[in-house]
Amino acid sequence: MQTNNSKENQPLIRIEALVKTYETNAGPLDALKAIDLTVYPGEYIGVIGKSGAGKTTLINMISGVDKITSGWVNVNGTEVQELNEDGLAQWRGLNLGVIYQSFNLLPMLSLRDNITLAMDFCGKYQQGKSEKKAMELLESVELAEHAHKPPAYISGGQKQRVAIARALANDPAVILADEPTGRLDSATSETIFAIFNRLIDQGKTILMVSHDRTLSRRVERVIELADGQIVSDTGAVHGS
Ligand SMILES: Nc1ncnc2c1ncn2[C@@H]1O[C@H](COP(=O)(O)OP(=O)(O)OP(=O)(O)O)[C@@H](O)[C@H]1O
Ligand SMILES: [Mg+2]
Repeated sequence: MQTNNSKENQPLIRIEALVKTYETNAGPLDALKAIDLTVYPGEYIGVIGKSGAGKTTLINMISGVDKITSGWVNVNGTEVQELNEDGLAQWRGLNLGVIYQSFNLLPMLSLRDNITLAMDFCGKYQQGKSEKKAMELLESVELAEHAHKPPAYISGGQKQRVAIARALANDPAVILADEPTGRLDSATSETIFAIFNRLIDQGKTILMVSHDRTLSRRVERVIELADGQIVSDTGAVHGS
């Protein structure tokens, strides 16, 4: 049942006429061609598409990691492309949890410090609190015992879980996940999906991209991306 005027029904992410063209040696390459997409709070979305379809590009446009060519991307009331470099990093850290396709963990830092760095950068927690919070997050992905190891000493599935814990560092409303189970065996994938389900139950919004069609059954809304365009969308479940 929908409640009237509830904030629940306000879009959390609004993308309109989004175009991303990469300049390459072979000429311009249209990675995203006029994407329109509205995401509501609490949605669990899977964007499925083949390699090269534009999935990582879409995540990079939502997170502001890379510049759009034209169009609009609004996340939680913020026009992402209007933020400057410093403002953007801070804003991203507080509002989005991004799980990168290649994890992007810092090799010189322990697992715990990979997480506290993300917290301290945004200054969300008081001095000294971030260590405790980071340990809680590592515990939630069952990695507390490895907290003081560098990423090189843990497995791929464990790195994936650290990347999730770090994405949650500042308790963001939105989680963007790029092939979160791409390199994992099925048992490890199950633990990742169990974490995602828990986050959805807590009211988080997740947009996950993958080439794996079987992920469709995991999510509540499936969007298909092909050659830089949305070719199908099962539609919002929570939206009005
Ligand atoms: N920095 C870049 N410069 C030039 N072209 C790029 C760049 N990044 C991506 N592309 C091209 O844009 C298109 C979309 O790439 P993208 O990385 O978004 O695909 P993807 O769907 O994430 O693929 P995969 O499943 O392999 O990760 C591809 O044709 C790719 O070669
Ligand atoms: Mg990709």
